[in-house]
Amino acid sequence: MAIKKKSDASSQTRKIRAKKLAVSIIGAGRVGTAFGIGLRKAGYEIDLLVAKHERSAKRAARLIGSPVVALSAAQFRRLTKTNVPQSSLIIIATPDDVIESIANELAAMFRARGPNNPVKNRVVLHTSGAFPAQVLRPLRDRGFAIGSLHPLISISDSEIGAKELTHSFFSLEGDAAAVRLGRRMGRDLGGQSFTINSSAKPLYHAAALMASPGMTALFDIAVEMLVRCGLSRTRARKILLPLVKSTLENLKTQDPARALTGTFKRGDIATVRKHLAAIESQKMRDALEAYVVLGRRSLALSDHAPNEKAIRRLLTRVSLRSA
Ligand SMILES: NC(=O)c1ccc[n+]([C@@H]2O[C@H](COP(=O)([O-])OP(=O)(O)OC[C@H]3O[C@@H](n4cnc5c(N)ncnc54)[C@H](OP(=O)(O)O)[C@@H]3O)[C@@H](O)[C@H]2O)c1
Repeated sequence: MAIKKKSDASSQTRKIRAKKLAVSIIGAGRVGTAFGIGLRKAGYEIDLLVAKHERSAKRAARLIGSPVVALSAAQFRRLTKTNVPQSSLIIIATPDDVIESIANELAAMFRARGPNNPVKNRVVLHTSGAFPAQVLRPLRDRGFAIGSLHPLISISDSEIGAKELTHSFFSLEGDAAAVRLGRRMGRDLGGQSFTINSSAKPLYHAAALMASPGMTALFDIAVEMLVRCGLSRTRARKILLPLVKSTLENLKTQDPARALTGTFKRGDIATVRKHLAAIESQKMRDALEAYVVLGRRSLALSDHAPNEKAIRRLLTRVSLRSA
């Protein structure tokens, strides 16, 4: 009960602090909509939503649940001939590949509106983990502070994503004013933020990819292996999940070297032989490659596992054979 009161109070405080910060969201997909839902709950005003298609923008508006102008990209372009977005913050949550062209378009809109629309104390943030804030440079030339705010979570559904944002980490980089506002946004959403060097973003994002989409892809390989054992995909997914969850629980409190369990850590060479023979007999190339790479990494983590050298030789022989 006490905890509830505390969280009510802190959400109230967040609302008061965020009061009247108006936001336009360009790219009303999974991330844009999740941000819209979360920010609205934190007291921000969502003014404008733009998606490539009008129906996506309208769907996002329904989920966010406040009166908001919802436009297709083409409608937005027409509107901005007479009126540019007035919100203090613009979030660009489109696919990575169109961020630059959106920045160019917005910059041209603000240039065309000239001195009637002075850009002062306004910030534009994109949500890509791989691209630096610098990709928004044309908007800095128009007076915006530019930055990137990348939520380190996987958002495949906006409503679930909005909940996940409340305990997400956000990476930030860009102009000081943009980083300040991004930090405030991260806090208002209930998460925590950290800054990252712009030049490190591709490697940082590759790490995020390994930990999340990479893990999903690996999970899919395991599902396929169980399907070959005669289970349905649904059943395979269901029975693997507690195993994955227990692994994540171990990683919450332990370093990977400590958390690692299994065949490689024990140095069970006869079992490795059985695994490899079974995977090879099914001609599962992805599974074999993943097994070899992850096996080597597990041996490195295990620090002198029994039979380490012999297992390494076995893995090398198999990978050469399958090359
Ligand atoms: N999903 C994640 O887990 C995740 C996590 C962290 C960061 N991010 C980053 O967040 C950004 C968005 O990712 P997402 O997963 O939310 O993508 P998404 O679900 O595909 O959404 C992209 C949105 O952008 C809209 N769009 C495309 N071209 C546009 C244009 N020219 N003008 C206006 N809107 C346009 C799309 O409209 P339509 O719907 O009409 O096609 C869609 O609403 C990316 O930079 C991504 O790297 C994603």
